[in-house]
Amino acid sequence: MTGELSPIDKAKYVAARRAADYVEDGMRVGLGTGSTAAWLVRCLGEQVRDGGLNFKGVPTSTRTADLAREVGIEVISLDEAKWLDLTIDGADEFDGDLNLIKGGGGALLQEKIVATASDQMVVIADIGKEVEHLGAFPLPIEVIPFGWQTTQALVEETLISMDVLGRQSSMRMNGDRPFITDEGNHILDLHLQRIGNPRQLSLVLNQMPGVVENGLFIDICDAVVIGYGDGRVEVRDINEGTVEQDRLDFLETDNLFSDLAE
Ligand code: A5P
Repeated sequence: MTGELSPIDKAKYVAARRAADYVEDGMRVGLGTGSTAAWLVRCLGEQVRDGGLNFKGVPTSTRTADLAREVGIEVISLDEAKWLDLTIDGADEFDGDLNLIKGGGGALLQEKIVATASDQMVVIADIGKEVEHLGAFPLPIEVIPFGWQTTQALVEETLISMDVLGRQSSMRMNGDRPFITDEGNHILDLHLQRIGNPRQLSLVLNQMPGVVENGLFIDICDAVVIGYGDGRVEVRDINEGTVEQDRLDFLETDNLFSDLAE
């Protein structure tokens, strides 16, 4: 079973499994979106079913909500929770200050709302997500459908005065149609290559009419759990200034692995 997992999947799995330790009885927990977050949801579901873990989950997408319910996690809305103890989510890139690019899965808007409404945000990622400078991964921005081509032109024009290397953008597609987010919007991917000042770029983008939110997470993430393909995990906590290393064993009988083959 584990032999079917690629080193990247193993890295994502061990990061998720280690991060599941952050979840305690009685917590309200934001559940991220993406392949790494899916591992987390499965790990937590197993602990609910087999270990009696008792918490409420606030999903960041319909995909995550469906999976969470499927594995037995009690799902509530953000409005029901109002405020969260913790959010655990994946990322497309993270830098040394734990600033992030997110939204590769198209869920950045709910992800940012949920993470911002949390006492603590923990990112789970394989080591390949670490970068010196954000921007090699295309930066997603969520735009409303009305006049999106005008918004795109305005964004590209604005990028001329920003500290970025590339200025092209593309409409995220789903087959031959524009991708639609859970909020009914579109995603523009900005091919910036290198972002010199992520904080400034985030502020400028969010001031533009038509732009709902961008995928830069600045000063939101508190800790990152980094997974490696050989089972090592590293936990970096930016508030505590600590770095912890650990190693997790793979259990050949772990039915989480066969679940993922679905
Ligand atoms: C979803 O919109 C994203 O923000 C994901 O968290 C991000 O793309 C990481 O996804 P993976 O865990 O699949 O790499």
